[in-house]
Amino acid sequence: MVHPARFELATPGSEDQCSNPLSYGCVWLQPFYHSINFSAILSAMDIHTNIPLKNYLTMKLGGTTRFMTEVFSVDNVKQIVANARTQNLPIFVIGGGSNVIARDETYPGIVIRNRIKGFEIVADDAMTTTIKVGAGEIWDEIVKKTVDMNLSGIEAMSAIPGTCGAAPVQNVGAYGQDVSETFVSLEAYDTQNDQVVTLTNDDCHFGYRSSIFREDQFNRYIILSVTLQLYKASPKPPFYKAIQDYFDTHNITIYTPQTIRDTVTTIRSEKLPDPKVKPNSGSFFKNAIIEGWLLKELLETYPEMPHYDMGDKRYKVPTGWLIEQCGFKGQLLHGMRVNPANALVLINESAGGYSDLAAAREEISNQVRDTFRISIEQEPLELK
Ligand code: EPU
Repeated sequence: MVHPARFELATPGSEDQCSNPLSYGCVWLQPFYHSINFSAILSAMDIHTNIPLKNYLTMKLGGTTRFMTEVFSVDNVKQIVANARTQNLPIFVIGGGSNVIARDETYPGIVIRNRIKGFEIVADDAMTTTIKVGAGEIWDEIVKKTVDMNLSGIEAMSAIPGTCGAAPVQNVGAYGQDVSETFVSLEAYDTQNDQVVTLTNDDCHFGYRSSIFREDQFNRYIILSVTLQLYKASPKPPFYKAIQDYFDTHNITIYTPQTIRDTVTTIRSEKLPDPKVKPNSGSFFKNAIIEGWLLKELLETYPEMPHYDMGDKRYKVPTGWLIEQCGFKGQLLHGMRVNPANALVLINESAGGYSDLAAAREEISNQVRDTFRISIEQEPLELK
């Protein structure tokens, strides 16, 4: 049985009646779905049918998912995984939906919204405090909480949308910090072996915007909690250039987690569009990592090209700069606006769907490749 739970049953027969984000009524449009048997789990969980994904993703486009549910505990996770397997349905976990893109076609499985909460101090000594947070906690609320505790380590990652469980997946980073620097371990449900496992920092193979969770172990683990070790000492320079510039122009000489949080929040609000107002997924492309020989050749033609030494004969080049050089900054491509304040962000202004986004992405990445011989990579994950 699939039931409407807390939501009203729409009158069958019209797609317009799917406008309620968790509308159940659409089940009538696809009688085939009645053949799914969720009876074993529905005593405890609500399964919703034919849900428009754009209501759950900050880019606000894409088709529907055949099923959607929320998990609040490891027991919920175990139940939904067991049932999905019985029904041969794929699963995909989302947090705040700020780093996931949906395609136009219906997702044939179950989208799980991770709502597992919790905040606990698990260790405390003279120098550090270690916290364990539920994967469904809102990332910025946890950053605020740790800043209020005067702890340092994640304050430069203030105002990033999304949940704590999503942070290790792409090794979230901003303004000189990334999650891997304070990350101790996480607990996850391993859908291959049906057990809760603890993965250490080394196990996660963190890199620039990467981890096992979005590479070779994609979709294997459902993250339940994340443990971070934060510092009691005040943050010390050198700071990320944008932070230092702000401190200098505002005569800020007291460096605390709070002054860094306030500064980053201000800088971000100037450069990055608020997804609640202008639908976007943050940086749409990763910065490019290129070999030393290519950098050398490019610098002959573009001596002003910004680049950062990665320490392994490779260099990071800001993709925002590459896109800007190609003349796309501020342009509207297939309904997607290249953000005028930072060309790395694409804003869904009037895209008809994923196909428009894909067309804009191809136009930009082809032009960057043809101009600089650099292949750029999409940052948000795709639901597939
Ligand atoms: N730049 C340009 N033109 C642009 C954008 C950037 O010339 O349109 C150049 C500038 O030289 C600038 C440099 O790129 O100095 C770096 O720009 P910025 O500091 O704004 O950062 P970013 O490389 O564009 C990355 C992260 C952001 C993070 C900022 C700040 C990635 C994919 N993005 O962007 O993260 O907030 O650094 O640390 O690494 C996100 O992942 O969603 C995100 C917003």
